[in-house]
Amino acid sequence: MLVPETVISEILNSVNIVDFISQYINLKKAGRNFVGLCPFHSEKTPSFSVSPEKNMFYCFGCGEGGNIFSFLMKYENLTFPEAARSIAEQYNIKIPENYSSAANSKTKSLKESILSLNKKAAKYYNYLLNNSPVGNKGSEYLKKRKIPKDIVDTFMLGMAPEGWDNLYAFLCKEGVSSEIQEKAGLVIKKKSGTSFYDRFRERLVFPIFDIRGNIIGFGGRIIGDGIPKYLNSPETPVYNKSSSLYGLYQAREHCRKENLIYIVEGYLDVLALYKSGIKNCAATLGTSLTSMHVKTLKGYAEKMVLVYDGDEAGIKAAARSIEIFANEGADVSVFILPDRMDPDDFINSFGADKFREESLNAQEAVDFITKYYLKLYGNTIEGKVKVVTALESLMNNINDAVTKNLYVKRISQILNIEERALQERFGQNGSSIDNKNSLSANLKINSEYFKIEISLLAALSDVPELKKIFIDKKIADKIENESVRKSVVKILESDNNSDSVLTVDSGIEPMFAKIRIEQGSWNLKSAKILVMQFENAYRKKKAGLHVLSY
Ligand code: UTP
Ligand code: MN
Repeated sequence: MLVPETVISEILNSVNIVDFISQYINLKKAGRNFVGLCPFHSEKTPSFSVSPEKNMFYCFGCGEGGNIFSFLMKYENLTFPEAARSIAEQYNIKIPENYSSAANSKTKSLKESILSLNKKAAKYYNYLLNNSPVGNKGSEYLKKRKIPKDIVDTFMLGMAPEGWDNLYAFLCKEGVSSEIQEKAGLVIKKKSGTSFYDRFRERLVFPIFDIRGNIIGFGGRIIGDGIPKYLNSPETPVYNKSSSLYGLYQAREHCRKENLIYIVEGYLDVLALYKSGIKNCAATLGTSLTSMHVKTLKGYAEKMVLVYDGDEAGIKAAARSIEIFANEGADVSVFILPDRMDPDDFINSFGADKFREESLNAQEAVDFITKYYLKLYGNTIEGKVKVVTALESLMNNINDAVTKNLYVKRISQILNIEERALQERFGQNGSSIDNKNSLSANLKINSEYFKIEISLLAALSDVPELKKIFIDKKIADKIENESVRKSVVKILESDNNSDSVLTVDSGIEPMFAKIRIEQGSWNLKSAKILVMQFENAYRKKKAGLHVLSY
């Protein structure tokens, strides 16, 4: 066991699951539970439920479910010990000496090593920018770009010094192996194959944070003009370009408050908006927007505004993104800046009020894209035919029937073409995304017998008096599912009466979460009836009869 049981129970007992999951999803109270949009599948209406009482979550759309460990494992693609150690660190829960020393050496995973190395590197660059003469060039450049000191602090900006191996030498002295440094993407092996050099040299450094404040990668801007303008961390075990958003960590609370996110393209665009008081913004960093970005963003605001440069590339990028937003059921508008300006230029020339004011005129996605094509192909019969053809791929990819219908209506108005004709062209295959997913969720729900067994486990967790009954009636021996039996035995053998500390095998966890959230709490009376039903079902099963009702 890489993380001691005591730490696991301490986490489960002290970390509020609603608070924890709220870091990622906007949860709203609904009766005893909280609900939000599921981050694990595409949906427009919340089917993701969190029960503070039961300390579990379950998505009635896709069938994912479990506790905070399984949530984090799934969301950040971590192993159980990685997730547990990461939560322990966040909540200052100490892992006992003998474990943590082991964790520092062998058991610490590559991901954890890279994260702690990135933190060291970011602090190093930040220190040099703020305190050392080598940072002067960087500070001067920032002054020129009108970035004040508090922004440097909030975003932990830094300066990578001139020279080939400053960071490398520093990290080696700190005892970090070359191998880990290379895997973090901070150093590159020389062609000669024996030594390493720094990836970022004489550049302004932008650390990229994940949503809990871990530093997952870096961007580096050349000071002044030159090529390449930006260098970025390569993909590493902790950095995945297509799911990371620059600035979202700093913006997260502001996005929630405004229920709106401005999505921009670059590092300096985020900083420009943020410094001017528009703090609800994030950037995709030169990559095209993906459905993973949108799923993440949906956890922070319902409304999104794509802010793109008014150049050809910007407009094309906006057009491409719309399909992704549509399929994620996100409410998106497009704000194209005038005169080929980017947000940074715009803010520095006209200020935040003007930005806010003009962004109110942002066009709804479907209007934007239709008018964009109309302008491109011309408002003639031939032109309109081309527009419809150009919209085909977007429209055919919209899975949600309602969205598709609304889009068709709008396009029909703009182009003055009958809805019916457009419907025929774009097909009516739009099905509800939510439905497809609930189908697969239903497939996960196994036999009734299994459901009774899981319910036994749930009841036993709620009602300590059941222990004696279970032991007297040898219930554990009669349980067919091995994971359920193991968990039941674990409860029977422990002298802990608290249920919230129970962790079950991952195979039965979603079903367990579902049952717990659906059934609410058991009391002794209802639990006794359940035991009776189980014994009946067990007898019938032994006699070779089907279990018909429960
Ligand atoms: P831009 O070329 O629009 O730069 O690239 P910018 O953000 O306006 O930067 P400044 O204002 O000139 O300093 C937009 C984004 O594309 C990525 C970066 O993330 C950048 O912020 N990019 C750009 C690169 O990764 N590499 C490059 O060489 C250029
Ligand atoms: Mn710029």
